[in-house]
Amino acid sequence: MHKLFIKSNILIILIGVIALLSLFAIITYQKTTEHPSVSPSTKEKLREEFSKAYTKDVTPSGNVIELELTASEGEVDIVDGYKTKVWNYNGSVPGPSIQIKLGDRVKIKFRNELPQETTVHWHGVRVPNAMDGVPGVTQDPVQPGGSFTYDFIPKDAGTFWFHPHVRSSEQVERGLFGTLIVEDEYSDKYNQDIVWVVDDWLLDENAQVYSKFNTIRDLMHDGRWGNLITVNGKSQETITARPGERIRLRLVNTSNGRVYLLNFPKLSATAIAVDGMYVKKTFDPNGFYLAPGNRLDVDITLPQDKGEYEVTDIFTKKANVLGKIRVEGDPVETPNFSYPTNPNVPDWSEATQVATDKTYTLDARRGGKYGIEWTINGKAFPDYDPVTLTYNQFNKIKFVNRSSRLHPMHLHGQFFKVLTKNGAPYDEGFFRDTVLLGPKESVELGLVPLDKGDWVNHCHILEHAEAGMMTVVQVK
Ligand code: C2O
Ligand code: CU
Repeated sequence: MHKLFIKSNILIILIGVIALLSLFAIITYQKTTEHPSVSPSTKEKLREEFSKAYTKDVTPSGNVIELELTASEGEVDIVDGYKTKVWNYNGSVPGPSIQIKLGDRVKIKFRNELPQETTVHWHGVRVPNAMDGVPGVTQDPVQPGGSFTYDFIPKDAGTFWFHPHVRSSEQVERGLFGTLIVEDEYSDKYNQDIVWVVDDWLLDENAQVYSKFNTIRDLMHDGRWGNLITVNGKSQETITARPGERIRLRLVNTSNGRVYLLNFPKLSATAIAVDGMYVKKTFDPNGFYLAPGNRLDVDITLPQDKGEYEVTDIFTKKANVLGKIRVEGDPVETPNFSYPTNPNVPDWSEATQVATDKTYTLDARRGGKYGIEWTINGKAFPDYDPVTLTYNQFNKIKFVNRSSRLHPMHLHGQFFKVLTKNGAPYDEGFFRDTVLLGPKESVELGLVPLDKGDWVNHCHILEHAEAGMMTVVQVK
C-alpha cells in the first residue's frame, strides 16, 4: 500500500514534468515558428531602407598618398597695400586643396610650428575615430614643435575640409583651413571642377586680424561676423570659362559664424551634393543656407552670352558678391551626362512613428570664463550629457533651440537626415553633417551610425562651441 502510494506519486510527478516540458516545447516552437512571420519593427525597416545609401567601408585602391602639412605663422595679401599676418597651412590661406581619388589612402605628416597646441580635424570625412583630431576625445593635442601623422582612407567621395579643433574660434579665424576633395568618376566629366572656400574676416584698420577673440558681443550673438568676405583668400574671386562649359563648383563655408544665403542670378545652376554627399533629387541652389561647416556642390552650365556672372550672398540686407564667373572665348559643346545623384538616400517617411532616442536642448546662461556659456541640456563642455547611439541601427535625435540665436549643429563621424522641422515632416532629400537651427526652432534627425567611437557634436559657430556648446556621442 505504502509502496504503491509512493509509486503513484512518482508517476504523477513524472506525468506533470512531461506535461510541463511539452508545454515549454510548444511555447518555444510557437515562438520560433512565429518569428519569421512577424513583420520587422519600424526601426529595422528604416535601417533596411538606409542600407544602400552609403557604404560601411570603402574598397582601397592601393594608392598611398603621402603629404606634409605644416601649420605656421605667415602673411597674406587680402587687402591691397597691406600684409595681413595669419596662421596658415603650408604657407597659404586657404591651405592646400588635397585632391585624391575614392579608395586612396592619405598619410598626412602634420607639423605644428604655431605658438599654440593644435590638432587637425577632417570635417565630414568618415575616418577611424583616432584620426578625428579632437583633443581630449580622440587624441592629445599636438604641441608647438610636435607632429602627428593622420592616416586614413576616406569612405566617401565628395567635398570635405579640415581645420584645427583646439581653440578653433581663434585658430580657424587666423586662417587655418584647407579642403579635401575626394574624386569619383564624375570629376573628369566636367569642363572644370572648382573649389570656392568662402571665409569671413574681421580685420582692423591696419588690415590685421582683430586680436580679441571670443568677445562677449560675439558670444551673445551669432559668433564672430567680419567685415571682409573672401573666396579662396581673394576679396573678388573671378574664374573664367567658355560659353557652354559645364562646371562643378564646390562651395565650402569656413567662416566662424557667418551664414550665406546663396544666390546664382542669371545662371543655370543645379545643386547636386550637400556636405559632400550626392542628393537624391537635384534642387535649385538659390536660397540655400550655407552655414559654417556646410558644403554645397553646384552643377552650372554656362550661357552662350559672354560676360560676367555673379554668385552672391543675400543673407544680410546688403548683398555680397562672393565671386564671379567670366564667360569668354569660343563656345564649347556642353558635356552631356545626367546629374550625379544618389537614388538610395532613404525617404524615412515612417520615421515619425519611432521614439526619439535623445533630445538636446540648446540654450545660454551667464557664467564661465567668457561671462556667457552656451549649453546643451544645461551643460557646458567639457561637462556633457553622455549618449550612446547604436551602431548600424536607426537612431533618432532631436535638437531644440531655446535661444534666439543661430546654431549650425555638426555631428562628427556620421551623416544624418532631417526628418522634421518644428514638429512637421521635412524631407530634404539629402544627408548632411551640419544643420542650421534658427531661433526657437527644433529639428529631428535620423541616422544610422556606421563608424564606432566617440564623436563630438557641436555648434559650428566656433565661439558658441568654445563657450561650451559641444557634447559627445558614443557609437557602440
Ligand atoms: Cu568642422 Cu568639430 O568641426
Ligand atoms: Cu551656436
